[in-house]
Amino acid sequence: MSDVKLCAVDDIPEDGSAGFVAELGDKKIAIMAIRKNGAVFVYENECPHIGAPLDFTPGQFLDVDKEYILCSTHGALFKIDTGECIDGPCFGDHLTQINAEVRDGAVYLT
Ligand code: FES
Repeated sequence: MSDVKLCAVDDIPEDGSAGFVAELGDKKIAIMAIRKNGAVFVYENECPHIGAPLDFTPGQFLDVDKEYILCSTHGALFKIDTGECIDGPCFGDHLTQINAEVRDGAVYLT
């Protein structure tokens, strides 16, 4: 599969997040992208607890301190860089990471 352009880096606020729907092959996948310290982390927008999307407010995936990814349904917290759940009902589980690369000011799914 060739790389799929997800968005411009500037579509994601620094220390913030955004939500997308990407077409990968014949599947449409809900995706979250988090921008932190110049890096972009991309995960499926599906909580490992019961499979719900994480954002009540579309595109808002971070806790108030912008330190962790927050699942709005039951409050699970996930590390931004690894997707590991460090608090909540799915403790120890991981978000599904999607390989992504920043090139020429854009984010590509690889
Ligand atoms: S659905 Fe995410 S913590 Fe329950």
